[in-house]
Amino acid sequence: MKSISKSYRIAVIPGDGIGKEVTAEAQKVVNAAGEAYGFGVEWHPYPFGADHYLRTGEIFPDSVLGELEQCQAVLLGAIGDPRVKPGLLERGILLRLRFHYDMFVNLRPARSFPNTPLPVAIPEGKRIDTVVVRENTEDFYMGIGGEGRGSDLSFPVEISRDLYSVKGTTTLSFSPETNAAVQLGLATEEGVRRIATYACDTARRRGEKSVLLASKSNALPQIYGFWETIAGDEVRGQGLDFQVANVDALCYHLVRNPWKYNTILCPNMFGDIVSDLLAGIAGGLGVAAGANIGKGLGMFEPVHGSAPDIAGTGRANPLAAILSAGLLLFSLGETEAAAKIESAVENVLGKADKAALPAEFGGGATCSAVGDAVAAAV
Ligand code: IPM
Ligand code: MN
Repeated sequence: MKSISKSYRIAVIPGDGIGKEVTAEAQKVVNAAGEAYGFGVEWHPYPFGADHYLRTGEIFPDSVLGELEQCQAVLLGAIGDPRVKPGLLERGILLRLRFHYDMFVNLRPARSFPNTPLPVAIPEGKRIDTVVVRENTEDFYMGIGGEGRGSDLSFPVEISRDLYSVKGTTTLSFSPETNAAVQLGLATEEGVRRIATYACDTARRRGEKSVLLASKSNALPQIYGFWETIAGDEVRGQGLDFQVANVDALCYHLVRNPWKYNTILCPNMFGDIVSDLLAGIAGGLGVAAGANIGKGLGMFEPVHGSAPDIAGTGRANPLAAILSAGLLLFSLGETEAAAKIESAVENVLGKADKAALPAEFGGGATCSAVGDAVAAAV
């Protein structure tokens, strides 16, 4: 045990369903890492999520946005509950935080771990080791759109970001009584350049020489043709090789040859889909970690959702949340502790007799037993 030289303030939003169970285990592991590597953690829990909303009507108060800035990072469990209209909490909490703090990077590594059954056969000597660098603030996620019946469909646009603001109204005239919905996607040069730059940094850190963009300019030439032009210019300008694949074909090849892929740069919506696909190929959502990163506050969360069907049963796998907490420590500069968490997860999975594996991998260990094992290994 080292003496404690510094202390971090970390906000915790466990959220809904299994979010509560898995964040508790992630906190346990971070506390153990703090003891081993000489830092303290002051946890600041927040109750936001479905239960809080149903009890109080409150989704996420503005005042907390300022408070969170007193923290160095946010650890988030999962948001979403079948009792609440889909999208309300997701947009009101998760996306609100991503946008408010301009967390323009969604980093989602997908690796194969020992004893995690894979749905595809991997050739001897190969392993899956990819990372999705997902743009996290633009594309079809901006919330620009509307729905209506009539001849004029008109919806206001008001967006304020660190990089730019957009204000106005979009009006479309339909033939009378057409029932329609519209959702607009947006890409800006600065938005694409900064995430392409992050993808280049990621590729270099991993010792790679190229970045692959998931695109779809054959069908959506305006927005994704723009992406290819700007991202291509940025990546080549940084001396790396720039590759492009249409996202549909990419999904096909990812399923068949996942070990051939490294750093994959994605616009927001494709990144959402491709990261779930890769999680499914590389051992499941139970080990898929994620980080939302910007210039300021970062937020760390597993790729999985709230899994209400298994909430409270002890069957949740906390490893994705634990690995996300590892990414959190990495972002704080605690690189040794972060690496230790990752290797502890590898060791626990590698050594585990069947009974000690998470239920998801056919084992008998409860969520908290898995957390205990990783904390002990750290
Ligand atoms: C994710 C989730 C969110 C997203 C939802 C809950 C809004 O699927 O983090 O991948 O689409 O980004
Ligand atoms: Mn998703």
